[in-house]
Parts: sequence; structure tokens; C-alpha cells
Amino acid sequence: MSLALSVRAADFASLDTPLLVLALPANATVDETLNALDRRAGGILRRTLERREFRGGRDEMLHLSSSVGGVERVLLVGMGKSEDRVASLRRAAALGARQAGKLGVKQLSFFVSGLTEQEAEATAVGLIAGAWDFRELKTPPPAEDRRDVLEEAVVLAGTPGAQRGVASGIAIGEGHSLARRLGMLPGNICTPEYLADTAREIAQRHGMTVTVLGRAEMERERMGSFLCVAQGTPQDPKLIILEHRRGPRDAKPVGLVGKGLCFDSGGISIKPAQGMEWMKFDMCGAAGVLGAMETIGRLQMPVNVVGLIGSTTNMPSGTAVKPGDVVQASNGKYIEIINTDAEGRLVLADVLAYAARYNPSAVIDAATLTGACVIALGHTATGVMGSDDALVQEVLDAAKRAGEPGWPLPLWDDYKELIKSDVADIKNSGGRPAGTITAALFLKEFAESYPWVHLDIAGTAYTESDLGTIPRGPTGVPVGTFVEFVRGRTR
Ligand code: BES
Ligand code: MN
Ligand code: ZN
Repeated sequence: MSLALSVRAADFASLDTPLLVLALPANATVDETLNALDRRAGGILRRTLERREFRGGRDEMLHLSSSVGGVERVLLVGMGKSEDRVASLRRAAALGARQAGKLGVKQLSFFVSGLTEQEAEATAVGLIAGAWDFRELKTPPPAEDRRDVLEEAVVLAGTPGAQRGVASGIAIGEGHSLARRLGMLPGNICTPEYLADTAREIAQRHGMTVTVLGRAEMERERMGSFLCVAQGTPQDPKLIILEHRRGPRDAKPVGLVGKGLCFDSGGISIKPAQGMEWMKFDMCGAAGVLGAMETIGRLQMPVNVVGLIGSTTNMPSGTAVKPGDVVQASNGKYIEIINTDAEGRLVLADVLAYAARYNPSAVIDAATLTGACVIALGHTATGVMGSDDALVQEVLDAAKRAGEPGWPLPLWDDYKELIKSDVADIKNSGGRPAGTITAALFLKEFAESYPWVHLDIAGTAYTESDLGTIPRGPTGVPVGTFVEFVRGRTR
């Protein structure tokens, strides 16, 4: 169940809450506003800050149980010294909500001094992210061991700006949550068909149109690149197209493209067993497109957006594509398969070529494409490359605003040498050197008719360690980046 979020005026004298989450900057003192609150909480705040038991450092948390009524507990969360209050608040809200869930409180109230509209949005996004949990495949514990789950959060702020900020934050947060849930679902449940059904459901709720191509339709389109990945699996591959058209009739749409490998075993070039279960997350690009479309639909953004997803699984079998095989993509180009584990680019090749028919003003794709990107940028930044420098910058700016930082890598023609084939136009792997760049250069061959940017989210779409704000599993990246980019184009 999703978190119910609302805004209420910060009237501390009458505040009743099981948990007040209070975000504080470094070395905060009790000012006039906090004084009113402190009275409601029995003076606990002043004592704690005066003793410097809490100093407001980044990620610092202190849980206080108050003995008087009204405010039953206070959770202080530090925002540190950062200049970027939006980012600090998103993080503090996530930490607070996650901690509230661990404490087993049903409801929390969140307060920070001087909340702007933009900060209110970030706060809502953070609260939803922190309250997110994946329980649906676990048997609930017996009643006596059960804790309450966080169901409701109230942002204490009286302004219309805060109202608007929280409203858009809910839309973004729900997009993130949808993407994270899809990511967490295992490959036997979240199949290409499941992603198609999810797209149909999003389309229905928000008045979008949906088109789904299966194997037969893709054969008609001569998508030999996408289909060679799918030839090793009995599941029907899906090319899913979601269209949101609320911009001017003749305005070119933005294209959002996602890699949707519901499981990537590597195929004949099979991956090592150790950690292979993580490859259920190889559809996080697709989940990002669906999450972003959910947000765009909820906000009824006045733009034209086309979401495109290429979904299948990469499996070894007697019918699977082999190293050395040559296939032809729908744009006519011949591809030599060197490594069947470089399957994401094969799927995206035909999806990117298909996107051209929508005559897009720009296309952004997101894909958990290369292990090399994790080596280059770790889990901190998404790799960003593209055919148009201004568009790359526009995407980097959007990613930063969303709190999903990206970093550019050079997409120079010099690297093309690495993916020249002896027998075909191009080969699907250039080996280890510059692996992220050669993957992007491969994609570029299929995205020639429009400005295009590629996001390699292999290191950022999911986390293998608990981040404090987010448990092991999907992070919601790249939903925020997609949404922020599209929103940037409506301004
Ligand atoms: N899905 C993987 C990339 C990946 C690796 C994502 C680790 C997240 C974490 C992709 O399909 C893949 O296997 N890429 C190969 C490419 C290579 C064969 C050229 C890789 O990165 O090893
Ligand atoms: Mn692979
Ligand atoms: Zn993959």
C-alpha cells in the first residue's frame, strides 16, 4: 500500500502525532518556531540541542521519546552543511520515513523551517522513497510479532507552494515506487507480458494509447537484432509503446526508451553463477520508462511523450543465438554477434530504429547496459553519452535536479575501431576497453535520425548494499531524470 501524504498548517500548539520527524541543518538552535514545538514536546528539543547531543550532521539521527502528550516521539534528522537544501531534504525525509517504518509507527508528521515549493516536492519524494517496502512475496509474521507499517505522513507547512510541491512530489514518488516494485519482482513473475500488462494498465488510468508488438509482429518489422536475443526463450518478447499526447497536436514527441531484460543469464556466453540472481534487475530501464509515464500521466503534463520498451529474457538454449552468428537489424545493418551477453544493445538497436517513426524531438534511452560503467563510475553516477552535446547537457541538468546524478563519457568516433567486424557492418562487443563507450557507439548506429542521449544505469538503478535511505534492491533511477527532463521541456 502506498503512503498517504498530506499537508497541514504547522500549528504546534495543537499538534498530535506519534512521531514528529524534524529535519535540522548543522548546528541548529531553537528559534521562535521551534520553541512552540518544543513546548508541545516538553522541552526535550532545547535540552538535546543545548547539550549538543545532536549536531545536525548529514544522515545524523536521534530518536527521542517525549513524556508529555501531543508529540509522542521526536526523530531528529540532520541535513548537514550542504548548500543544496533540496537534495538534503529529499535525503532527510527518506531517512526519517524509513526509520519510522522500523520503529513501527503508523503515522508521522514532518517539519522543517521555511519549506519552499521545490523543497516540499523533494520532501514528498523522500518520504515516499523511505516508506517504500517490498513485502508482497513474504508471509506476514504472526499477529503478536507484527509491527504497524507507516501508512500516513503529514507535511507541516501552511503555504500554497508547499501544497503544490507535495502534490507533484506524490506523482514523482509514485512513479519511483512503481519502478522499484517492478524491479524487485522476480523474473518468473515480472515477464515481458507482465510489463506489457502494466503498460496497458497505466494507459487506461491516464488516457494514453498503448501498442504491443510480439514475436510475429516484430518478424514482420524485420527486427533481426531484437529477435536474435529472444530466439533462446519460449516467452513471447514484447515491444511496448505507450503514448501520452497532451501537447500541441503538431509538436514532436519526446521519446523515452528502456531496456527490459526480465532476466539476463548471458545466453550461450553464460554469466558466472555467483550473483546471477541480480540480473532480474536488467529491466530497470523499462521500469524507469513505466514509472516516468505513471508520473507524467498523474501530472497530466502538457507534452507529447512516447515511451518505448524492448522486453525479453536472454537464455541459453538449443535455439539461442551463438557467437559468430550474423543478424540484420530493422534499419538494414548487419551485426556480428561476438558475445551473446551483450544483448541489451541488440534489443535496443531495433527499438531505437523503431522510435524514428514517431519523428521525435529527442530520444533518451536508459539501460543497465554494461558492467564497465559500474567500474568507471561506481554506484554514484549514471553514465551519460549522446549524439548532441546540448541535449547531453540538458539531460545532465535534469538528472542533477532529480537527485540522480549523471556524468558524461566521451562518445568519440576514435572508439569505433573497437567494434568493426570482419564479416558484418558492426560487431556487438568491443571487449573490455571502454566498454561503456563502445556499447553507446553501437546504439548510436540505430539512433541516427534524431538527437539522442543514452543513460547507462548499470551502477545506479539498483543497490547491492543498504544505502540507509534505500534497502538492497532498485533505487527508482532513472524515473526522476526522465520526469525532470520532460518537465524541463514544458517550461
Ligand atoms: N546486463 C548486463 C550489464 C550489467 C552488468 C548490468 C552488471 C548490471 C550489472 C549486460 O547485458 C552485459 O552483460 N554486458 C556485458 C557486455 C560485454 C559482454 C561486452 C558486460 O558488461 O560484461
Ligand atoms: Mn548481458
Ligand atoms: Zn543485460
